Amino acid sequence: MDPYLRDVLDVLLRMLHVTAGIAWIGASFYFVRLDLSLRAPKRAEDADRGIAGEFWGVHGGGLYHSQKYRLAPAELPEPLHWFKWEAYTTWLSGFALMVVLYYFDAGVRLVDPTVADLSDWAAIALSVGGLALAWLVYDVLCRTVGQRSQLALALVGVVLLALAAWSASELFAARAAYLQVGVMLGTIMAANVLLVIIPAHRKLVDAMAERREPDPVPLLEAKRRSVHNNYLTLPVLFTMLAGHFAFTFGADEAWLVLVLIAVLTAGVRHFFNLWHSGGRAWWILGVAAAAVVALAFWLQPDGASPTQAGPVLVAEVQAVIEERCAACHSGASAPLGIRLETNAEITTRADDIERQAVQTRAMPPGNSTGMTEDERELLAAWVASTR
Ligand code: HEC
Repeated sequence: MDPYLRDVLDVLLRMLHVTAGIAWIGASFYFVRLDLSLRAPKRAEDADRGIAGEFWGVHGGGLYHSQKYRLAPAELPEPLHWFKWEAYTTWLSGFALMVVLYYFDAGVRLVDPTVADLSDWAAIALSVGGLALAWLVYDVLCRTVGQRSQLALALVGVVLLALAAWSASELFAARAAYLQVGVMLGTIMAANVLLVIIPAHRKLVDAMAERREPDPVPLLEAKRRSVHNNYLTLPVLFTMLAGHFAFTFGADEAWLVLVLIAVLTAGVRHFFNLWHSGGRAWWILGVAAAAVVALAFWLQPDGASPTQAGPVLVAEVQAVIEERCAACHSGASAPLGIRLETNAEITTRADDIERQAVQTRAMPPGNSTGMTEDERELLAAWVASTR
């Protein structure tokens, strides 16, 4: 794809994706909080009308009063607001972004021959297949294990997440592997809305319209799936942002880092959910904080260990960068405006170059320009000599 067209699509789709995502996650956080904060109705007539709980909030210059029905009110209310396009738009724009950035440019962004020597089409097929597989496996587990115990489902879920993260790290370029896992989780979330939650709501509304007693079973399952989505939001957000943090996706055991952070962030979500139902489980935040510190130490890059003897000539470094980096990092379209053309540009970026090309090997992406180990060592030695 033409690079300029790709940049324009990138901006448009990313803005749409982030905006829809904020609306979706915002609604998820709000409604789960609402649900957990419900208190038995104060007025007897509300209880008689079938109100299970009520919530008072003050926001944006006014008081709001929400009431949740045990099943449904006697009359179908008009208008009734649905929450689904936030989810669909987030998924559709996210998938389009993945196609534009990772599938069109699969050779550079999705495939890394040092990880797995896949053809572009094989990598794309594996990526798309992974999304479908994630949903199928998750849905079957919900219908089996999940019917008996949500805790067991969560434990199996973590094991499968580890399997997915590990498989992705064996198939795709490091940065793409994290994204793939994130999109798998995001697909589960969107499919929960499309295939379980909204159909349950349709049945409820149909029953009300026909003045039948609604069947509570699909509603219970919808509630569970909605809670799953709530716990998946922070792990997914991390995978979406992790592209900025090469020390995470570029780590030796990157898949394990992903699993640990997913568990950690879901734990933090749990802390807030407990908080909204009146609990104060500070220990969760304590454990999460300790784990973050431990992770930070674990992922700390080793100091550069220059094996080259003698001073490294800037000219040599410049030659390597010109060959391996400048194809992308030059001119007006240089990614993130990072140009590596002149001696001065290279020298001021020494730390960034070390981080991206030596420590995390995020650059060149998918080693598309075929940088050798010797060249990486040369860069390490040069950076060390500039200190
Ligand atoms: C195939 C194109 C390509 C090649 C070759 C390439 N880069 Fe990059 N580089 C990119 C892109 C794209 C980004 C922006 C990543 C992003 O979207 O965050 C980037 C980002 C960077 C960044 C900033 C990372 C950050 O997030 O702060 C540095 C530093 C960098 N590259 C250094 C290098 C070095 C050094 C080389 C050569 C060893 C190299 N790049 C080769 C495409 C390339």
